[in-house]
Amino acid sequence: MLKPTVVLVAALTSVLAAAGSLSAQAPAAKPPAAKPPAAKPAAAKPATQPGADPVKRGKYLVVFGGCSDCHTPKLLTPNGLALDSSRLLSGHPSDVAVNPPQLGMLSPDGWMAATNMHLTAWVGPWGVTFAANLTPDATGLGSWSDSTFIATMRSGKHMGVGRDILPPMPWQSLGALTDDDLKAIFAFLKSVKPVQNVVPSAMTPSLH
Ligand code: HEC
Repeated sequence: MLKPTVVLVAALTSVLAAAGSLSAQAPAAKPPAAKPPAAKPAAAKPATQPGADPVKRGKYLVVFGGCSDCHTPKLLTPNGLALDSSRLLSGHPSDVAVNPPQLGMLSPDGWMAATNMHLTAWVGPWGVTFAANLTPDATGLGSWSDSTFIATMRSGKHMGVGRDILPPMPWQSLGALTDDDLKAIFAFLKSVKPVQNVVPSAMTPSLH
C-alpha cells in the first residue's frame, strides 16, 4: 500500500516543480517596454548620489558636513544665532577682536573648550584656532587647487604640507570621503561669493 502513495507524492512534486519554474520564468516573459529606463547621464543625477553635478553634490555635502556651523559668522536674532548669509563660509571675521585666551580656566575636570558668538574662534588645550575663510577670495581658498584640498583633508596638515590642523576642525571626517566627493566640496566652495577676510593665525600654547 506504500508504493502508490510514493508515486503520487513524486507526481505532485514534479507538477509543483513545473509550476514553480513557470512562475520563475514569468518576469522574463514581460514585453521589453516594461524594462526600466536606461541610466540617466551623470550630470542629471541628484545631488544625493556620487557622480552628480560636482557643485550641487558639493553643496549637499557642505550642508551635511555642518561647515557653516564654524566657518560662517552668525547674527544674533530674537530666535538665537542665525547664519550671516551675506558672508557665507568666510571664516572668523577679521574685525572681531579676540582677547588673549585664558587657558587657565580650562581643566580636565571642568570645561575643556570655549567658543565665541560666531562659533568661529575656539579655545582649548591646543590653543586658539580660527575657522578659515573657505570662499574663493585671495584671502580664502583662492590659491588652492582641488589636490591641495584633498591633501589637506587626508593628511591633517595645513595645505597638505604645513603644521598640524588643530581642533575642532573635523579633517578626519572629511578625509574619509572619496576623492570625487572632496573634489565636489571644493567645486562648491569655489562657487560661493568671494569674501575678503583675513582670518587671524592660530595661537598655540607655545606661542604665548
Ligand atoms: C567644529 C567646527 C568646524 C567645522 C564643523 C568645520 N571646520 Fe573647518 N576649520 C575649523 C577651524 C577652527 C579651522 C582652523 C584650524 C587650525 O587653524 O588649525 C578650520 C580649518 C579649515 C580649513 C583650512 C585647513 C588648512 O589647511 O589650514 C579648511 C579647508 C576647512 N576648515 C574646511 C572645512 C569644511 C569643508 C568643513 C565642512 C565639511 C569644515 N571645515 C567644518 C573649524 C571647523
